[in-house]
Amino acid sequence: MKSYTSITVGSLNLFNENKKVMPFGVSSNYRYFEPYPLYIRKGKGSHVWDIDGNEYVDYNLGFGVMEVGYGNQKIVREVEKAIQEGSILGFEYYKTGELAREISRRYKMDMVRFSSTGTEATMHSIRIARAFTGRKKIIKFEGHYHGSHDQLLVNVNPPVPKGKTMSSLGIPEEVVTNTLVLDWNDLEQLEKSVDEDVAAIIMEPVAMNMGLVPTDEEFLRETMRIAREKGALVIFDETKTGGKAYSGAKGEFSLEPDLMILGKAITGGFPLSVIAGKREVMETIGPGKTAHGGTYNANPVSVSSSLVTLKEILTEDAFYHMRRLNRMLTKGYEEIGEDLGVDVSVASWGTSGTVFFSKEVPENYKEFISSDISRWFTYFFACLSGGVIPMGGFNEEWTLSISHSEEDVRKHLEVAEFALRKAKEGGMNMSTDESF
Ligand SMILES: Cc1ncc(COP(=O)(O)O)c(C=O)c1O
Repeated sequence: MKSYTSITVGSLNLFNENKKVMPFGVSSNYRYFEPYPLYIRKGKGSHVWDIDGNEYVDYNLGFGVMEVGYGNQKIVREVEKAIQEGSILGFEYYKTGELAREISRRYKMDMVRFSSTGTEATMHSIRIARAFTGRKKIIKFEGHYHGSHDQLLVNVNPPVPKGKTMSSLGIPEEVVTNTLVLDWNDLEQLEKSVDEDVAAIIMEPVAMNMGLVPTDEEFLRETMRIAREKGALVIFDETKTGGKAYSGAKGEFSLEPDLMILGKAITGGFPLSVIAGKREVMETIGPGKTAHGGTYNANPVSVSSSLVTLKEILTEDAFYHMRRLNRMLTKGYEEIGEDLGVDVSVASWGTSGTVFFSKEVPENYKEFISSDISRWFTYFFACLSGGVIPMGGFNEEWTLSISHSEEDVRKHLEVAEFALRKAKEGGMNMSTDESF
């Protein structure tokens, strides 16, 4: 099998050109990895092709967006129509209410507003929570990611976790004085920290930005109880999880957050995000009240794509298919790990999962970051060489789409077995090593 660097010369050349005009040659830091990122030309179904012509079965799916499969013809038809009819029409598009009603029905939330990205939606949600409660503080959890805005860009992925750590240069300390960071799944800490000045507790109800860390349901229920007692709102950031089960984590756990954020998979591939919430909370939004705006909010292309995605593509049957394949993949990983005697653990939920290079599945960020990440990279590059993108990064998860087949899963497991064997051997630079 050939190394990453020997099969991706085109990506290297493009990287060398692009980095002259784009920092690190990419448009999002999360697309960069050492020694250089992969440049993708196109996708079809569950597969993508890079600019060197290498074909991969893709389980990153645009960081969890493309559960509808690449080039889905239902979406192509709807989007083409929306573009033919004008793309952006000014004022409110006539179909937006239909999408709002569909989301309200499916996720059982009273009211809905649209933005374009998960980042914007979580940013708006904390303003709404503060406006509603008249309080300042926001609690977030270490290792949870809520997008690229200053107030929540704290302790997202610190290499060495200690105290409050900004996850970016350029954020003044004053901006995060009202952001408290706690450990995921630590009830005692939470109980001590929620006081009468906490406006909201924001969380990924199943954490998916430190790999997929399963949720202790008891912790979730207690968190909601404590928040209620103290008059703080609970915000479920379901940018990822909302599309990984038919009604998201909210539906799976039968819980009633005050606000819920959706994005990614529910859009079918176009920029659209959702702030959904209880009527009394959402009614703080409005002219002269709480700000919420955006030129591209609920644009016709995204609305049309999202409507067909929710109503016709990501149906209960589709979830049956994706979840069945996810169980097959998870079980396969567990069996390989056991057969090879390698210290890996596997977690999965909905349509996604993660393989961790630690004996036990982590319960929080500190446990996650102490897993063996250098072995993860050996595994990752071996998978790429074998024609599988196993997930988007060491702190990400795999996702199944409606286009994945049992054959795709078998191919993933075959390549993963080889990759885990290499990871067990260790000590190799799999991106350049030619000897495997
Ligand atoms: C849980 C969560 N919230 C928010 C975001 C930000 O979404 P976007 O990249 O659309 O701004 C992400 C992105 O990965 C996410 O995983």
